[in-house]
Amino acid sequence: MKIALKNQSLEKIPCDVLIVSIFKGSKNYRHEVTSLNKALDSLLTRVMKEEDFQAKKGSTLIIRTNGLVSAKKIILVGLGERKDFGPEILRKACASAIRCALKENAKTVSTILHGLDTDKIDAKFTAQIVSEVSQLAVYKFDKYKSKEKDEPKKEIQTLIISEQNKTLEKQIEAGIKRGSIVARAQKLARDLVTEPAIVSTPTKLANVARQVASENNLKIKVLDRDDCKKLGMGAFLAVAQGSEEPPKFIEIKYTPKGKPKKHIAIVGKGVTFDSGGLSLKPANSMETMKDDMSGAAAVIATMSTMRELQPDVAVTMIVAATENMPSGTAYRPGDVIRAMNGKTMEILNTDAEGRVTLADAMSYVVKQKPDEIIDLATLTGACVVALGDTSNGVMTNNQKLADKIIKAGNEAGERMWQLPLYDEDREKLKSDIADMINTGSKGKSGAQNGAVFIEKFVDKIPWVHIDIAGPSWLDKEDAYGPKGPTGVGVRTLINYLTNYT
Ligand code: BES
Ligand code: MG
Ligand code: ZN
Repeated sequence: MKIALKNQSLEKIPCDVLIVSIFKGSKNYRHEVTSLNKALDSLLTRVMKEEDFQAKKGSTLIIRTNGLVSAKKIILVGLGERKDFGPEILRKACASAIRCALKENAKTVSTILHGLDTDKIDAKFTAQIVSEVSQLAVYKFDKYKSKEKDEPKKEIQTLIISEQNKTLEKQIEAGIKRGSIVARAQKLARDLVTEPAIVSTPTKLANVARQVASENNLKIKVLDRDDCKKLGMGAFLAVAQGSEEPPKFIEIKYTPKGKPKKHIAIVGKGVTFDSGGLSLKPANSMETMKDDMSGAAAVIATMSTMRELQPDVAVTMIVAATENMPSGTAYRPGDVIRAMNGKTMEILNTDAEGRVTLADAMSYVVKQKPDEIIDLATLTGACVVALGDTSNGVMTNNQKLADKIIKAGNEAGERMWQLPLYDEDREKLKSDIADMINTGSKGKSGAQNGAVFIEKFVDKIPWVHIDIAGPSWLDKEDAYGPKGPTGVGVRTLINYLTNYT
C-alpha cells in the first residue's frame, strides 16, 4: 500500500472511496466535511438522517456520490463522543473504515486524519496511527489458499491522506513514514509466526535473521549445536536434543553512528514448535504452538527497522531457536542440566522449556554487560489465564525500566500490565538436588514462576520480562489485524528504542 499526503480539498480527490469521520451528536462538522457536504448537495447529512447514522465508535455508512464529487463512494465512520476521543478510538475507526473500503473493492482510498480537530493527538502521531492501522488491519496471509480462477484480487493500492494545513506537512509526512516502517516490521513478524512450524524452523529463523542483518548493515552470529556445546549451553541444548531440527543461537548487533547512549539487549523466545516434549501437551493446547517463537519474530522484526530508524542506542538481539519435541533423545523430567553460567536446574516439566532456553540466552548476553535486558516470550498459559489476549504480562527486577516499557507499550497500542515478583515466589524454585527446579508452585502464580526463574540468569542487570503468550494470538480480529498471530511486541520495542531511551 502506497501512502501519500495531498493538500487537495476532499471533493476534488479522485478515488474509489473517500473516508470521512464525524463525532456523535454534533452538527458542527469539520470545515472540510462541511464543504464536502455542500458539494454533495447535502447528500451526506440527508443519508445520515435517513439511515439514522449515530456515529458510534467504528460504525460505518457507505454513500454513493453519483458523480457530484471526484470520489465514487464515501465511507462515513463514527468516532463516538468527541470528549472520549483518543488513540484507541482512532485505531478502531481507522480499522473499520479501511476494512469497509476493502470490502467495497476499492483500489484507491483517500482519508482525512480523524480527530485532528480535537487536539487530543498531535498530527504526527495521528498520521502514524492512520498509516500503521490502514496497513495492518487489512493484513492477510493467504499464500497457501488456492485461488479461484479470474477472482479479482481485493487490495488497496493507494491511500491518500488529505490535509490542507500546510504547517502540518512535515509532521504528517514523518508520521506516515514511521507508520509504514512499523507496519512492515510487524507484518514480517506475523508472517514468520503464521508460517507453519515445518517452515519456520530454527534454520529458517536464522536465515531470515541473516537477511535482516545484511539489509540493515548489522553484525550477525549464528551458533549451531557444536558452538553452543563449546560455550556450555547445556540448558538450551537440553531442550533441543529431542528434535531432528538443528538448533540455532542467533545474535544480531546494531551500533549507532555516534556514541551509543546505552546498550540494550532484546531477547526473544524462539521455540519454533512446543509440543511440550515428554511432558506432552494435550492436542488442543498444541494447536497454536507454532506461535511459540512470537518473541523471536518480534525481536528479529524490530532489527529489520534499524537502518531506517537509526536509534541512538546499541542493540543486541538474541534468539535461542529450537523445537521442543518428545523422542528417544528428548530431555526428561528429573534430568539435571547445567546452563552456561554454571547454574544447574532440575527439570520437573519439559513443557516449561521456554525459561530453560532463555537461561542460556541470558547467560550469554549478560557477559556483554548490557545496560538493560528486555525479553519477550510466549512463556506461560498462566499469563493467558490472568490477562487474556488483551494485555501482556510485565515482570521486572527494576521498576524504573518497567515503567518506561509499560508506557512505551501502552502508547503503541500494545497493552502492558505488571505482575509482581515477591521473594516468596523466588523461594518456590528450590530443588532438592540442583540449584533450582524449572517449574514452581503448582497451579499458583504460573507467570511469575517463569519470571523468577529467568531472573536467576540476568545477573541483577535491569531487566523486563514481557510474557506475550496471550496477545501473540487472537481468536478474533482487532483493530490491528485478523485473528491468529499478531506480531505483538514489535510496536513496543520500536517505540521504546526510539522514544524512551
Ligand atoms: N509455550 C507455552 C506457554 C503458552 C501457553 C504460550 C499458551 C501460549 C499459549 C510454555 O512453554 C508452556 O508450556 N508453559 C507451561 C509451563 C508449566 C509447565 C510450568 C504452561 O504454561 O502450562
Ligand atoms: Mg512449553
Ligand atoms: Zn513454550
